[in-house]
Amino acid sequence: MIGVAEQHGGWATSDPMDVPGKQPLYKTEGSPPSSVPTLMDGGNYIKEGKDAAKSTCLIFSPKADEVGALARSLKMFEEHGVNLLHIESRASLRVPNQYEFMVECAPGGDLGSAIENLRQRSAYFSIISRNYKDNMGTVPWFPRRIRELDRFANQILSYGAELDADHPGFTDEKYRARRKYFADLAYHYKHGEPLPHVDYTAEETETWGKVFRELTKLFPKNACRQHNHVFPLLIENCGFREDNIPQLEDISNFLRDSTGFTLRPVAGLLSSRDFLAGLAFRVFHSTQYIRHPSRPFYTPEPDVCHELLGHVPLLADPAFAQFSQEIGLASLGAPDDYIEKLATCYWFTVEFGLCRQDGTLKAYGAGLLSSFGELDYALSGKPELRPFEPAKTALQKYPITEYQPVYYVAESFEDAKEKMIKYAQTIPRQFTVRYNPYTQSIEMLDSKPHVLQLVHGIGREIQILGDALKKL
Ligand SMILES: [Fe+2]
Repeated sequence: MIGVAEQHGGWATSDPMDVPGKQPLYKTEGSPPSSVPTLMDGGNYIKEGKDAAKSTCLIFSPKADEVGALARSLKMFEEHGVNLLHIESRASLRVPNQYEFMVECAPGGDLGSAIENLRQRSAYFSIISRNYKDNMGTVPWFPRRIRELDRFANQILSYGAELDADHPGFTDEKYRARRKYFADLAYHYKHGEPLPHVDYTAEETETWGKVFRELTKLFPKNACRQHNHVFPLLIENCGFREDNIPQLEDISNFLRDSTGFTLRPVAGLLSSRDFLAGLAFRVFHSTQYIRHPSRPFYTPEPDVCHELLGHVPLLADPAFAQFSQEIGLASLGAPDDYIEKLATCYWFTVEFGLCRQDGTLKAYGAGLLSSFGELDYALSGKPELRPFEPAKTALQKYPITEYQPVYYVAESFEDAKEKMIKYAQTIPRQFTVRYNPYTQSIEMLDSKPHVLQLVHGIGREIQILGDALKKL
């Protein structure tokens, strides 16, 4: 067995904050799978470092601690015509008493077959860059650790300061400068920093006040029970008032205490893939700017009124939080057409969802709860209503600039979550993911020892529950 790891003191990790036991992100000289990505080039994928854009990094542990396992693996690459650019090894954190190897493969040769061959002969196998094809297609990159959400800032689809010609603030230089200020704040934000504090102007607060006043009149009758339960808590804890635009930091702290959700400022439009990936970490990307004062009851894009009055209350509800996270987890590494389907499910639930409570139709979608007109319309009995069934809802076409012709009704958030979990199982992925809240990372359940370790953990949880039941 090659002991390169001991000689080198282990592999470099993505930054000096990393500690043993954390999931390593591999970083090698001249091989930048973890380098800062550039803007997207037309698709939803991150385009990684220029030199390694076409390389594929694999990590694997042989099935047994057999002599020559690495040599045989390397021979296999040769047989499939795959050139290796870099090889490293170290003691495995996942398979006890085993080593794991990281190889960076150059494009060319029959990489797909080499990957399948290696997967079958390994006790642990993982692909840490996205540019490879298996027999299911291309597996897109997705963040494995919460701080990797920082990458999304570099790949927004449009900067928040760029306004379309029909935007109410298009000709307003002052408003445009303000939008640039907000976009810059979000663009430079890094995970772990306090969320930017904003001193809103009197004009901005006045716009917020108009929206706040009108919407809060509608909530008691039209919003779902959960929204109405949380809203007073936001008034009490986060400064939700007509004369005050609440700070994202205060709200994020409140949400963290409630469901573990946190907010992140976002500079502009994210791709569906990136936005949904945030949800997998219970991170909600939120705008921080406010709509143009000339049209307080209209906005062509999400703004702080939409996020705070529409989305935030529901994110404090445990069942809704889990439902949102399930959509996010389902999206990780999913093929493009499934991202579109998941984004459609998101649209008809988190944005425009209705639910029935005590026999009455209520709104829980943020797009409805932040729009007086559509909130009324959706509950008027005029539009078509259908039960939320992810497989069917996912195929529904929808307009984004006018009222929805059809709304989907969830029986409950729990029911919607169960349906989403079942639907997620139909997404063609060769791996299962799980969020580890302790390390705030996504675990790939792709090795038996790892799954057994989890089973052991569940056993301990059951012991605790059994003990609690005895004492009740
Ligand atoms: Fe939204």
